[in-house]
Amino acid sequence: MDTTRLQGKNILITGAARGMGACNAEHFAELGANVCLGDLDLDAAQEMAEKINAKGNGRAIAVKMDVTKREDNAAAVAATVDAFGMINIGLFNAGLNKPRFFMDIDEDNWDMIMNVNTKAMWLGMQETARQMIAQGKQDYPYKLINVGSIASRKPLVDVTVYCTSKYGCLALTHCGAIGLAEHGITVNGYAPGVVVTPLWEQLDKDLVDIGFKQREGQAYDDIVRDALQIKRVSYPDDVKGTAAFLCSSDSDYMTGQMIHIDGGWCIQ
Ligand SMILES: NC(=O)c1ccc[n+]([C@@H]2O[C@H](COP(=O)([O-])OP(=O)(O)OC[C@H]3O[C@@H](n4cnc5c(N)ncnc54)[C@H](O)[C@@H]3O)[C@@H](O)[C@H]2O)c1
Repeated sequence: MDTTRLQGKNILITGAARGMGACNAEHFAELGANVCLGDLDLDAAQEMAEKINAKGNGRAIAVKMDVTKREDNAAAVAATVDAFGMINIGLFNAGLNKPRFFMDIDEDNWDMIMNVNTKAMWLGMQETARQMIAQGKQDYPYKLINVGSIASRKPLVDVTVYCTSKYGCLALTHCGAIGLAEHGITVNGYAPGVVVTPLWEQLDKDLVDIGFKQREGQAYDDIVRDALQIKRVSYPDDVKGTAAFLCSSDSDYMTGQMIHIDGGWCIQ
């Protein structure tokens, strides 16, 4: 492992207390980055930051934030700059899901998912870009990285609102790449498929509750059999290399791209 690959990169990661966000934070710090872990769950984010700091390469701080609030996004960016001097990269990873069949979607389900997955991504991008623009082009390209999903490109009937929210992440990636290019900011993203995290473990149960699947674990089995070319589900470790690539200078000439890390689901 090249422990200097991300040296000099100061990265804000939302939703970094657990799951893929936490795995990426740990990996980026192993590669030399300084990371700010933003999450609703401050205790878990702090525990993760302590684990990272104990390893002694890149440094970590934790901040409590609700990504749906503009002021929390601004405060998380400010905390990153206070701790590390400037911000180079924002990774907008916080997200959630709650499946409903189309005719069972209500306003609460719509607002909860759209606010966290899409509106908050826009807020985070805007507040991070505001700071990057203020810093001037001293160390650019700055990078905004959006976490999409297989649901950014595939209509999945049991998770219509989640799909709507994640198609929105793809649109934010495309429009942000165009709108922020003049400031030396690139916007890219990555799109996982099935990743075993607390989000998917809850989804697996919820799919039984709404009657889409008959037993827990069935969704994993059905997707692996019917949709994936690589015949297994994935884990956060399967995603971290692509996330690190998008943070690294190896991706400096890329913008407006959403890379799928989904075992081939999107070509099905
Ligand atoms: N797990 C999958 O299979 C999968 C597949 C495709 C895309 N994704 C996306 O990847 C991202 C990470 O997912 P994960 O599976 O690691 O999820 P996870 O549930 O394991 O972690 C999500 C984190 O986001 C935090 N969070 C939720 N709402 C928040 C808010 N309002 N403010 C601040 N923090 C908040 C949670 O506290 C949690 O720590 C999400 O955007 C998700 O939609 C996941």
